[in-house]
Amino acid sequence: MRSNPHRGLALRMDRAGVAIAALLLGLVSVLFGMGRAHAAVGCQVTYSVNQWNNGFTANIGITNLGDPLSSWTLEWDFAGNQQVTQGWSGTFAQSGKHVTVKSLSYNGSLGTNASTSLGFNASYSGTNDAPTSFSVNGTTCNGSSGGGTPTPTPTPTPPQSGSHVDNPYVGGKGYVDTEWSAEAKADGGTAIANQPTAVWLDRIAAINGANGGMGLRAHLDAAVSQGASYAQFVIYDLPGRDCAALASNGELGATDLGRYQTEYIDPIASIMSDSKYANLKIITYIEPDSLPNLVTNVSGNTATTACQTMQQNGNYVKGVQYALNKLHAISNVYTYLDAGHHGWLGWDSNFGPAAQLFATVAKGTTAGVNSVDGFVINTANYSPTTEPYLPVNSQTRQSKWVDWNWYVDESTFGAAFRQQLISDGFSSSIGMVIDTSRNGWGGAARPTGPSSASDINTQVNAERVDRRPHVGDWCNQSGAGLGARPTASPAAGFDAYAWVKPPGESDGSSKSIPNDEGKGFDQMCDPNYGGNVRNGNSPSGALPDAPLSGHWFSAQFHQLMQNAYPSVS
Ligand code: GLC
Repeated sequence: MRSNPHRGLALRMDRAGVAIAALLLGLVSVLFGMGRAHAAVGCQVTYSVNQWNNGFTANIGITNLGDPLSSWTLEWDFAGNQQVTQGWSGTFAQSGKHVTVKSLSYNGSLGTNASTSLGFNASYSGTNDAPTSFSVNGTTCNGSSGGGTPTPTPTPTPPQSGSHVDNPYVGGKGYVDTEWSAEAKADGGTAIANQPTAVWLDRIAAINGANGGMGLRAHLDAAVSQGASYAQFVIYDLPGRDCAALASNGELGATDLGRYQTEYIDPIASIMSDSKYANLKIITYIEPDSLPNLVTNVSGNTATTACQTMQQNGNYVKGVQYALNKLHAISNVYTYLDAGHHGWLGWDSNFGPAAQLFATVAKGTTAGVNSVDGFVINTANYSPTTEPYLPVNSQTRQSKWVDWNWYVDESTFGAAFRQQLISDGFSSSIGMVIDTSRNGWGGAARPTGPSSASDINTQVNAERVDRRPHVGDWCNQSGAGLGARPTASPAAGFDAYAWVKPPGESDGSSKSIPNDEGKGFDQMCDPNYGGNVRNGNSPSGALPDAPLSGHWFSAQFHQLMQNAYPSVS
């Protein structure tokens, strides 16, 4: 830590070499006039930025060191030519250099010693010095309460020492989830029950073990005792989760960012940073579907109100940034952001904007783009790794199936998307991961070669190994099989083929089932549903009689075993 007393700035170089200016401002105690009641007012404000060319993201923390407040107004003057372009967790107004932020209905109440956070994106030209003074409700903040005892600056938890390698899958075996393995064995899957799969931390209760199951510590302990070199976890509990579908809606409402941070991410980060696990490479897959939904489901005829809400309140972006900040700070934790699949982000209209969104999100974290180790594609989806007989060319792109996409499989999409991410600012050390748990498409219906049919749709349909009615179908797909067994470094630019979705766990119930998990009923899981605009009004392709998402679905498990490609011997 190097400090610059002149401006009261503490400069810290993080792993990426990004300078973070944390401005800790001081105290005030205001005593109202003689004969009136004393109201102790005191506050502390932290201000940190991550900047690139002509823009920056600022994160602000307010701690109330005085009497409880029911609402707050934060004010400051910019030191230079900064202009707020988008703010969150407050109502922002800027006039010249002066900025006023008023609390919202849900974050105005601040007890003594309580904190809240807010932030904004801004443009600037010239220098980007931090403001030198902040006030809350008209009182200058300088970090102390009415009594005048200075508050100690919190000591940041030092990141663990230990190495951070380029590809965490290389050089050892993955943790075999004890619970999944037992279910697979009990249901005729002994041949594959020794494969590593990811553990989904899909609700706050999963951290300590939901319904008597194993929690995060129990899994990490088991990984250590198995002698595993890596263990995989899915971080999946964002506020307003699954905004474009219903089957995996979660427990946190659209505005529950605070709970996501303190009750979900903080405890996970604290367990993962236990030195007991320092030799284990902990791989995290961060928030499936969330950022991709912000690309494709906020405007036009594919929009949903829930996704528009999550875009407007910024809680997907803030939640993912918070998760990256906490997890990347632990040197043996690896972060992979979810990047949809070829049948989602493969079209030109989604491809570029998605890469840009990922870059903006990453640049807004403490370590910038270096807080991301890679991207996982096809999470819980059914897109094949390779379409061996279906070329992408000017003819096939006109077919209903390909529909002008440039990609028909994950290996080509993943390689191209990685290049796009690198040109948008990500490091060339990022690696892609394909979820191959259910993208096998073997069995009797698998095509065996190219077709010479003259009609382009007939030809493409005869050539494609992906047997779904439409590439937008995602729930319990009939005919799918297990894909490639987990493999480290399968191709240049790819860190792994991994089994992220545990085979045998449902994607959603075929009909409405009352539950206390926040899970809804999505018609895309009903085999009789005729579809909507997001799947080209095609049949859902779903298997019948499925239980709630995440629950064991024996019939599907058997079909996955049967149609495995490569087959299960
Ligand atoms: C689904 C469920 C979640 C489950 C996961 C893995 O997305 O919503 O509860 O853990 O799949 O099966």
